[in-house]
Amino acid sequence: MFITFEGIDGSGKSTQARLLAEHLRAAGHDVVLTREPGGSAGAEEIRRLVLEGDPDRWSAETEILLFTAARRDHLERLIEPALAAGRVVISDRFADSTRMYQGLSRGDLRALVDRLHEMLIKREPDLTFVIDLDPDLGLSRARGRNGHEERFEDFGAGLQRRMQAGFRALAEEFPARCRLVDGDRAPDEVAAEVRAIAARAFG
Ligand code: ADP
Ligand code: TYD
Repeated sequence: MFITFEGIDGSGKSTQARLLAEHLRAAGHDVVLTREPGGSAGAEEIRRLVLEGDPDRWSAETEILLFTAARRDHLERLIEPALAAGRVVISDRFADSTRMYQGLSRGDLRALVDRLHEMLIKREPDLTFVIDLDPDLGLSRARGRNGHEERFEDFGAGLQRRMQAGFRALAEEFPARCRLVDGDRAPDEVAAEVRAIAARAFG
């Protein structure tokens, strides 16, 4: 069981990933909660390279390579072994984030993202929650966290709006695994819907 959460910054992915992990653990499942970029030692190092420092540090193409390299390490070291051992893996972001952020934000690089994915990653989640939220709300929530990983949040409301539209289109592109969830509700309400969808998907 490989479950991912996707959506714009501040949409509530981390919160919902954590709540679902807690729920499934309480139900007796062995759950690995992880995130991207990151999730393994090497990928966390790459996370620092891409999310800290000058936003113009990397070209769009280099960024695709870095995110894909981080994902490959995450997959080899954490995700594949955990799934092989029968554990449930929940990841806060995965390949759909690269399809959106690197595929759409600086020109149309989606084909390049898809080709690299096909060559080096291949795996898709069994279930993807796409949390839908107005970008103004997402941005104010994300800014409230006040971290030092501001890179994509700094792109501002214009980019986030295109990302919201992109994530909605993505949910339609992959209807078998994607479920669009309204994120503009209390965390517990969103979590209840997420739990219900997961229960329907996996019995
Ligand atoms: P993401 O991982 O998508 O960036 P987070 O789960 O980190 O989002 O949430 C961003 C901020 O908004 C956090 O401070 C979190 O506590 C808060 N938050 C999360 N879900 C909700 C919600 N449903 N309503 C209001 N605030 C929320
Ligand atoms: P994340 O920590 O999930 O940020 P947030 O909690 O604000 O949503 O991800 C950090 C940033 O990395 C986020 O702005 C999206 C970006 N990102 C990409 O651009 N490409 C990717 O492939 C991934 C996984 C993340």
